[in-house]
Amino acid sequence: MLSAKDFEAAARDKLDPVYADFIAGGARDEITVRANEAAFGRLRLLPRMLRGGGVKDLDTTVLGSRARLPILLSPTAFHKLVDPEGELATARAAAVAGAILIVSMASTTAVGEIADAARAAVDGADPVPLWFQLYIQPDREITKALVRRATDAGCTALVITVDSPVLGASERNRRNGFHDLPPGLRCENLVDLRDGERGHVRQIAMSPELSWQHIDSLRSITSLPILLKGVLHPEDARLAVRHGIDGLLLSNHGGRQLDTVPATLELLPEIAAAVAGRIPIVLDGGVRRGTDVVKALALGARAVGIGRPVMWALAVGGEKGVLRLLELLREELEDTLALCGVTGPQELTPGLVRSAWSGPLFGGAAL
Ligand code: FNR
Repeated sequence: MLSAKDFEAAARDKLDPVYADFIAGGARDEITVRANEAAFGRLRLLPRMLRGGGVKDLDTTVLGSRARLPILLSPTAFHKLVDPEGELATARAAAVAGAILIVSMASTTAVGEIADAARAAVDGADPVPLWFQLYIQPDREITKALVRRATDAGCTALVITVDSPVLGASERNRRNGFHDLPPGLRCENLVDLRDGERGHVRQIAMSPELSWQHIDSLRSITSLPILLKGVLHPEDARLAVRHGIDGLLLSNHGGRQLDTVPATLELLPEIAAAVAGRIPIVLDGGVRRGTDVVKALALGARAVGIGRPVMWALAVGGEKGVLRLLELLREELEDTLALCGVTGPQELTPGLVRSAWSGPLFGGAAL
């Protein structure tokens, strides 16, 4: 495994194609899935030379959570679909690498157990940066109980996914008849939230009636920092700041919700301008290389998130696979920063990025 992409090919050899499709897939024509990666390919890095220094460290703090690299593990559901240890393996790898892990509300291991595994993996030495993702539930008591579970586990921020008033339509899943977890697996965070609830995926309500009022009312439930995941319009980014949101996870759900929305990287300059440094932005969608990380950071993200690569790496090699993925990305990032002539992520500026030139050479004359 020499790059994030290598894990996908290897995972496909191992996985049930139905599960591989679940991971790779997106909504409808998957136009946004492809756009996310393609957007990174359209930007060029313009490095500086002879600046001395060398890369010092990749330490990054986001909303008080300290990480040893500016790459988060975005929330992904159902890790036990691809590895028997599931989220426990992912959490150990993230803890060892010093990366923030965002636990999905739809994890197949309870958030408390995930947190214990992460802490044990580093002998309780460091505070393990763990966040919790949640879909606000129309029943406020259920939302409260979930927040309590995450807080008791030691999570240090909440990520509220707001791009899912209804579930995005994956035609791959439909074609494959994949609607449910196989027997033996369940969404452990949902078990017994109310009497007799068994952790069924269908317990997660996607609710079109959610509004800013629901976001505001979270403040009376928790004092944890709140990030919104899935805000795409600059006007909504401004509203988020006005509503006292602590950070944005600029994400189009990896192209799994509304198809044909822009690549997140394309939106980053506008969103960065809208929030004007008042709150940090984390970007996910299509990040596969150290150069991708540098481009996003240069254009205003504090950190990036990765989704599918983690699932592929987990499928290939469990805990070791995820750790290898994170090490590879760290190496690539260090190497890219050195080649750009900067000593660390905080020195990245938009001046290091150019659009790929698409005009005709020499006034259009054929060469
Ligand atoms: C996701 N994503 C996601 N998001 C979320 O808020 N809650 C969730 O439970 C999940 N589950 C999930 C499962 C799988 C298999 C995938 C691929 C994605 C979206 C995820 O957090 C992230 O936004 C994207 O995956 C980022 O894009 P890349 O890195 O996959 O291109």
